[in-house]
Amino acid sequence: MSDTQTETEEFSLSSETLAKIDEVITHYPEKRSATLPLLHLVQEEKGYISRPAMEWIADKLGLTPINVYELVTFYPMFREKPVGRRHVRVCRTLSCALVGSHKTCKVLQDKLGCELDGVSEDGEFSIEYAECLAGCGTGPVLMVDDDFYENIDEAKAAELAERLKTEKKD
Ligand code: FES
Repeated sequence: MSDTQTETEEFSLSSETLAKIDEVITHYPEKRSATLPLLHLVQEEKGYISRPAMEWIADKLGLTPINVYELVTFYPMFREKPVGRRHVRVCRTLSCALVGSHKTCKVLQDKLGCELDGVSEDGEFSIEYAECLAGCGTGPVLMVDDDFYENIDEAKAAELAERLKTEKKD
């Protein structure tokens, strides 16, 4: 695919994201150095990095798809599967696990109608475990999209789930 081609059968990006990508690439003397920023931009628009997306990025930067795949699988912030419109990440690392993060996660799954690593039927919610979210003294800690929540025990998890269900994301 050429640099000017914007679409494949399985993968396409908005003109806004394409413009950002073309701009970001100019910041680097070597195009390949823009791989991480491009992955962030693609995930920002699509919610995850699909195989066709990896191939598209590789082509755009003159890399092989495996070069991109290795980065996606190495960095935990990149997702290979679709997520809901609201994505919940519950810390499962030791400090949070000891104060009940697994129970918190179970309550959220039940209340939001969402299996772990899955997406709710209406596409609204997805839940996954995350490694330490840097709030170890105030666990259980979780994030909903970019919002950080601390001390979320089972009761607070149930309240949070109710609030999320009544909120409409912009
Ligand atoms: S162990 Fe959960 S935030 Fe660090």
